[in-house]
Amino acid sequence: MTLAYACEPEAAGRQAHVIVVGNQKGGAGKSTVAMHLIVALMRMGRRTGALDLDVRQRSLIRYIENRGRWISSHGAKLPTPQVFELEESQLRQRDAADAADEAAFRVALRRLSDTCDYVVIDSPGGDSHLARVAHASADTLVTPLNDSFVDFDLLGDIDETCAEIVRPSIYSEMVWESRKQKAIAARTPIDWVVLRNRTSTSRIEAKNKQRVGDALKTLSQRIGFRLAPGLSERVIFRELFPQGLTLLDLDGAGVEGEMKMSHLAARQELRDLFITLKLPGLEGEALKF
Ligand SMILES: Nc1ncnc2c1ncn2[C@@H]1O[C@H](COP(=O)(O)OP(=O)(O)OP(=O)(O)O)[C@@H](O)[C@H]1O
Ligand SMILES: [Mg+2]
Repeated sequence: MTLAYACEPEAAGRQAHVIVVGNQKGGAGKSTVAMHLIVALMRMGRRTGALDLDVRQRSLIRYIENRGRWISSHGAKLPTPQVFELEESQLRQRDAADAADEAAFRVALRRLSDTCDYVVIDSPGGDSHLARVAHASADTLVTPLNDSFVDFDLLGDIDETCAEIVRPSIYSEMVWESRKQKAIAARTPIDWVVLRNRTSTSRIEAKNKQRVGDALKTLSQRIGFRLAPGLSERVIFRELFPQGLTLLDLDGAGVEGEMKMSHLAARQELRDLFITLKLPGLEGEALKF
């Protein structure tokens, strides 16, 4: 395990608010949402830590590495998060490897928690011991969900004939288990917020969007999550990855080009998400992005 960056001054004894971005489904937008939340928190002037548990893809780490390179090469005045990089245990035996991964995770979280106000954890897709441990450490769990019934299926089983929700599904059960663990270990709840990602702005999709929305509303009451306004499918949410930027950085990054209408709409979506999260320590504060 190595400490990759430590760009912020130390502030001993803090206990950060932990935001886990998780969904077992691959490609739901976890790393994208994690990076945008990190930048939003930094824009709010908060010390922000990043932990990427997807030690193979390293999407969040690569995003932040790209940011570091952009800052050096352009002399841009942009904030960077503290990053702690985990390495996967090489132990052959499964239980021993899980225990080593968990121990490394706990050290990383403690270190970041001591020096940051918020720690954002990008949890990998699939079901793993590390993902479960991370979920059970969340104060806020943010679950991006692709806007289709295929992805919805991980949260709740739907009866085809009457579009009724039959029962909570595998990911919901994992969150349920994490909530129990957290309640025992820390006696505090996990605030679970689900957001629809990559929603279509086309009218043709409106009916499907409405059906997914209705089903999510029913499910949110049944299994206890809050629904956040989602993010639309927008090029601006993906095109700045190579520079390590987000649209929230554009005013200070020295990027050519003007703010388009779609950028303003995207920024409003991020603001609405941020407001819905109701993160402690930010109550009543005007948004700075
Ligand atoms: N709202 C959006 N608009 C446009 N593209 C998006 C949006 N959200 C995510 N993407 C793109 O979708 C792809 C998957 O997103 P991302 O990598 O964030 O998902 P993930 O859940 O982290 O995936 P994995 O499970 O593989 O870690 C990426 O190419 C990303 O740029
Ligand atoms: Mg990812």
